[in-house]
Amino acid sequence: MSSLPGAAAWEQYAELLAASLRAASSVLVITGAGVSAESGLPTFRGTGGLWDGEPVEAVATPAAFARDPERVWRFYHARRRAVLRAKPNAAHLALAALEARVGHFLLVTQNVDDLHERAGSTALVKLHGNLLEDLCTACSTITPAPPVPPAAGGVPRCTCGGLLRPNVVWFGEWLRQNDLRRLERFLLRSRWSDPRGVALVVGTSGTVSGGYGLVEAARDAGAVVVEVNPESTALSGCCDLCIRARAAEALSKVVARLEQD
Ligand code: OAD
Repeated sequence: MSSLPGAAAWEQYAELLAASLRAASSVLVITGAGVSAESGLPTFRGTGGLWDGEPVEAVATPAAFARDPERVWRFYHARRRAVLRAKPNAAHLALAALEARVGHFLLVTQNVDDLHERAGSTALVKLHGNLLEDLCTACSTITPAPPVPPAAGGVPRCTCGGLLRPNVVWFGEWLRQNDLRRLERFLLRSRWSDPRGVALVVGTSGTVSGGYGLVEAARDAGAVVVEVNPESTALSGCCDLCIRARAAEALSKVVARLEQD
């Protein structure tokens, strides 16, 4: 992976991030679609993004599912196929290695793929659900998705007869209470100042996560807030440091520095 222009500058920032991580007793990481981009999974926004091909309101709302469940399933089966083909990249691996080095650590992802888990992350909250699970709309049972998504169309059903849907959070739905409670517990037990904790925001436009107030909460509590993203985002203004680089290259460099200690 080649460096973006301005590599010298971001590499100095990577050193600053490594120094902050070395000192931190609490680390919160928030990831978005950009962390899986180098595994070949498309992001949502912008040209070629998922919402460019299929508008949100046609495939990612309860109303869309009620109107045309087959269309919704076509979209999610294609996403499942892409995730099953993909492999964790150096960014996923670096975040799993970081977890192993920090006492109090939580990775909050908006991604519904399983690449963080496959890389070895365990302290993980999947805020937008899990693409590789089905949820019954009648009995609420959650089951693992079949290992091979069906080639034909159709809408899968639960053993109870109810329609299955992917176990993801759609627009217009609440985040899951369990996830919010875990997040709250983590934040309450975190140490954000003296030594300063770190909130690391990777590969998200902040269009959705910005609304959750997580980054602001960590910053207000005293955390060093660092963004890793080649582009400026809705969250950049809240950050102490913006590393304008791709996640795989930047995070593997940061973690390699930590491992030299
Ligand atoms: P977006 O598509 O909004 O943003 C992806 C971000 O990743 C952009 O800021 C890119 O600049 C950045 N990016 C791209 N390649 C990168 C790389 N190699 N390294 C680092 N960053 C890179 O995706 P999200 O912010 O994740 O929600 O979107 C948030 C939510 O909106 C999603 O979870 C989904 C979507 O609608 C639901 O479906 C509920």
